[in-house]
Amino acid sequence: MTSEYHEVKTVADLASEPAEYREAITKIVISHTVNELYGAQVFDEPAIALAPTPYAKWLTCRIAMEEYHHHVRFKALADDLQVPPEATDPKQKRPLSIFGFPMKSWPEFCVIKMLADLAEILQVEDLLHCSFVPLRNIGRVTMPEEKFHAAFGKDFCTELCKTEEGRAAVQRAIDDYAPYLPKFFGAAGSKNNETYRKYALKARRNEQMREDFLSRARSVVESLGLRFPEIAEA
Ligand SMILES: [Fe+2]
Ligand SMILES: [Fe+2]
Repeated sequence: MTSEYHEVKTVADLASEPAEYREAITKIVISHTVNELYGAQVFDEPAIALAPTPYAKWLTCRIAMEEYHHHVRFKALADDLQVPPEATDPKQKRPLSIFGFPMKSWPEFCVIKMLADLAEILQVEDLLHCSFVPLRNIGRVTMPEEKFHAAFGKDFCTELCKTEEGRAAVQRAIDDYAPYLPKFFGAAGSKNNETYRKYALKARRNEQMREDFLSRARSVVESLGLRFPEIAEA
C-alpha cells in the first residue's frame, strides 16, 4: 500500500467524507458496473454459441452467469450511491477498449478469458484492500470467480494447443488481442488514479499495474509454449 486512509464502512458513512472521496468511489463503481455488463454482452453470452462441446457450453454458461452477477452486484452498489441509471448504461457510457475486440471464434474467447480476466484480477486485487468496505466486500466475492475465469481460459487454451491447428489459432488470437490490453489500466500519470491512491482506493499507479499485468500475461502465455507479442504501452 502506498497510502493509508481510515475505513469507510457503509454508504451512509460517506456523508462525513469529503465530496472528492464519494466522487472517486462513484467513478470506480460506474466503471465496474458498465464493464461487467458490456463484457458479458459482447463476449461471454455470445461465447455460449461458440463453445464446441456440452461441457464447454456448461462452463461458458456459468461464466456468463457470473459476469452478469458481477454487474448486478456493482449495480446494486451504484443504486445505493444514487448513481443515475444512464451513467451505468453501456449505450451511454463508453466501455473500455478491451471490449472493442470483434470476437468471432472459440479460441479467441479462451484467450480473452485467459488474458482479460487476468487484467480484471489485478483490478480486483486493489479492491480487496481498499478503504471503502462495501467495495472491498464485492471484491472478496468476485475474486474467486475471476480466478476461475482466467483458469478456464488457460485450461481451454492448453487443450486447444494439443493440435497444430488449435495451437496456431490460439497464437493468432493472442497476437490479435494483446494490443487491446495495455489501455485497460488507464493513462500513465492519471489524475483519477492519484486521487484513488490518496484515499487508499487503489494501491498502485496505472503504469505499475500495467507493467505487473504484462509480465504476468507474458509468463502465462509462455507457460503454454507460446509467444507474447511486443506491444506498444498505452
Ligand atoms: Fe467479472
Ligand atoms: Fe471474469
